[in-house]
Amino acid sequence: MHNWNTDLALTYHEETKHSYDSVYRSRHFLDWGNQPRPFKIYTGLEAIPLPAELPVTHAPALLAMSHPVETTATTLLLTLHDLAYVLFYAAGVTKRRNYPGYGEMLFRAAACTGALYHIDLYLAVSDLPGLRAGLYHFDPHDFALRQLRQGDYRRVVVEASGNDPALQEAPVIIIGSDTFWRNSWKYRARAYRHSFWDAGTILANLLAAANARALPARLTLGFADAPVNALLGLDTHREVALFLAGLGAGAPLPAASPPVEPLQVDVAPLSSEALDYPAIHIMHDASSLDSSEEAAEWREAAAAWRGVAPEASLPAPTGDLVALCPDAEESLPQAALEDVIRRRGSSRQFSQQPLSLTQLSNVLVRATQPIPADFLAAPGTRINDLYCIVNAVSGLSSGAYVFHPQEQALEVLQAGDFRLQAGALALGQELAADASVAVFALCDVPAVLEHFGNRGYRAAQLQAGILGGRMYLAAYAQGFGATGLTFFDDDVTDFFSPHAADKSVMFLIALGYAARRRR
Ligand SMILES: Cc1cc2nc3c(=O)[nH]c(=O)nc-3n(C[C@H](O)[C@H](O)[C@H](O)COP(=O)(O)O)c2cc1C
Repeated sequence: MHNWNTDLALTYHEETKHSYDSVYRSRHFLDWGNQPRPFKIYTGLEAIPLPAELPVTHAPALLAMSHPVETTATTLLLTLHDLAYVLFYAAGVTKRRNYPGYGEMLFRAAACTGALYHIDLYLAVSDLPGLRAGLYHFDPHDFALRQLRQGDYRRVVVEASGNDPALQEAPVIIIGSDTFWRNSWKYRARAYRHSFWDAGTILANLLAAANARALPARLTLGFADAPVNALLGLDTHREVALFLAGLGAGAPLPAASPPVEPLQVDVAPLSSEALDYPAIHIMHDASSLDSSEEAAEWREAAAAWRGVAPEASLPAPTGDLVALCPDAEESLPQAALEDVIRRRGSSRQFSQQPLSLTQLSNVLVRATQPIPADFLAAPGTRINDLYCIVNAVSGLSSGAYVFHPQEQALEVLQAGDFRLQAGALALGQELAADASVAVFALCDVPAVLEHFGNRGYRAAQLQAGILGGRMYLAAYAQGFGATGLTFFDDDVTDFFSPHAADKSVMFLIALGYAARRRR
């Protein structure tokens, strides 16, 4: 029961903070000759190509981010085309770029730290039209599935989750995994935070794609880790399951699943050697759940987060409030999810051109709509609060703010021009200084750990990652850009203190109009 030894998560969190010393005095260098490949390749397994002709829903991204959208499609029965749609828009290859001296880079639907793409998706499926029941791996490289096991294994996953009701009748359970070395090659022990940031951006897209096809989808974070990892045949020193997502409805579980025998499959090596970062394993083990019973108890306890008012994590405003002015749902910009995800890419330079208050309001309000997840049981529950540095928003003075979702308002923490500070907080990156707004997700880590145990650390990072992924979508849906950024942890807390005195940053995203890159 490591989950309740929360010193372990606190230690990981403290030890992986960025400070001036940790960043500028570091001797770490990137060993380009040993860069891991960004794909998991099962050599020797036949590719089952997914349909290349994807459905077109025209579902507005700003709605699909958070609500099922009425489509003309008949989606009562989940089809292979639905599955291909969700997989492509969650984690497919959307762009190819050639870089002199490096070669071709394949960019994906969701943003990812360092474009290292360390998250894989597996599927436990019942019999679907065009796809036999089995356990599959999704390979974005050739947009194909590879079958690892034959038969309906969903019961293994559902039992591991302590029989999460949300998974019981899902014809497809998507299991997200992380291969640590694919990210720790660059980011070392801090890569465990990225596990959840980068899973979060994928999940923001995945949930939106499911909504666009009017498919029920729900995220499960409470599961016994070992049986899920064993089902996927993972070498848990390298790769682990991070999340489960039930997709679709109306497919009761089989009475039993076939036995989970060890998998005999070959995987192409990632690089000539893989370095190990023990802090990652310690943190992952510390936040693992040991049994189905523990998973069920964890979910039940999670539902009681903040008692009767799970949405009220902020003290009542004491500073001036600026009312937000989001568009009504029927007049939101209509950019289709498919186009938005295909166009999305992290802005590499911002122009300092202002956003409108409505644009910023739409980002904040749409991104904070309820996330269907076991650890956010009551609607409106949140773990992270959003703080902003506003550099250029017409109708809003520059300054530091905190977002009050219930009031749909920004509370002024400090007025002033903080462009330089925004850049400095983002590890000295100009992107945050030139952005119109920098949005920080912060949470009270000790309070989260006290309630959820170490698993809460996964939940906090993941919720922040989903918020970040949604903000990317909300920006591109409104014709401007965004980029995730990393940060000096304690400096951000200090900047937003005393309001944020007990909190830690989980995610930073900069928003604004892209500039042409300087030559
Ligand atoms: C959580 C997160 C943090 C990021 N941090 C940085 C950063 O500090 N600096 C930067 O230039 N880009 C950052 N990025 C952007 C990634 O480099 C970018 O997503 C990746 O190269 C893939 O490109 P794309 O988003 O254009 O598809 C971050 C992205 C995410 C999701």
